Amino acid sequence: MKPLRIAVLISGAGSTLKNLIQWKARGELPVEIATVISTREDAGGLQYARDADIPTELALRSDSGDPQAYSKKIFDLCRKRSVGLVVMAGFVQHVLIPDDFNNRVVNIHPALIPAFCGKGFYGMRVHRAVIEYGAKLSGCTVHFVDNEYDHGPIIAQRSCAVFDMDTPESLCKRVGELECQLYPEAIAAIARDQITVEGRHVHVRAMV
Ligand code: GRF
Repeated sequence: MKPLRIAVLISGAGSTLKNLIQWKARGELPVEIATVISTREDAGGLQYARDADIPTELALRSDSGDPQAYSKKIFDLCRKRSVGLVVMAGFVQHVLIPDDFNNRVVNIHPALIPAFCGKGFYGMRVHRAVIEYGAKLSGCTVHFVDNEYDHGPIIAQRSCAVFDMDTPESLCKRVGELECQLYPEAIAAIARDQITVEGRHVHVRAMV
């Protein structure tokens, strides 16, 4: 089976991308990272891509006018590279999903959707909100991306405890460890054609 060609969209440090590159290098992720698209010139993740000889592209928000024009720019880059799946990895821009990429864009959110998600919930803000609310569980969610923030069909979730002594940083670390396992597993399941979608319901036949 030919590896699934993916584009990875980044905006920041790139820990998600780094983890995917490591899984692929170990032969545990049957994908070809065809391109890494960054919304920032100074995104740390760009260096991980260059070190792994992955082509990179910039899609600066300021270079495109309305959200439609920006989304077109991103997805035209993906089409140019014949990408079958777009993987958001710490990507903070809102994009509109064109019909030919319906259920072909995935994201990982560092909480259990539908809690602590939506506009403004990203990075450390999520973990701070979980702790302030007094939740006893948090975790991460892999989902397909639609045109609403953190809303598309859920592919997989994994949970962890929130402890009394947790800080946003300690919770981020615990959730991050789950993310490093769950995201590659979910992407591998898609690459192996083990996932079907019926409306909001995603059926996963096998994960790693
Ligand atoms: C994590 O919180 C992840 O859940 C979210 O982006 C953060 C990681 O950013 N999608 P990065 O990959 O280190 O840039």
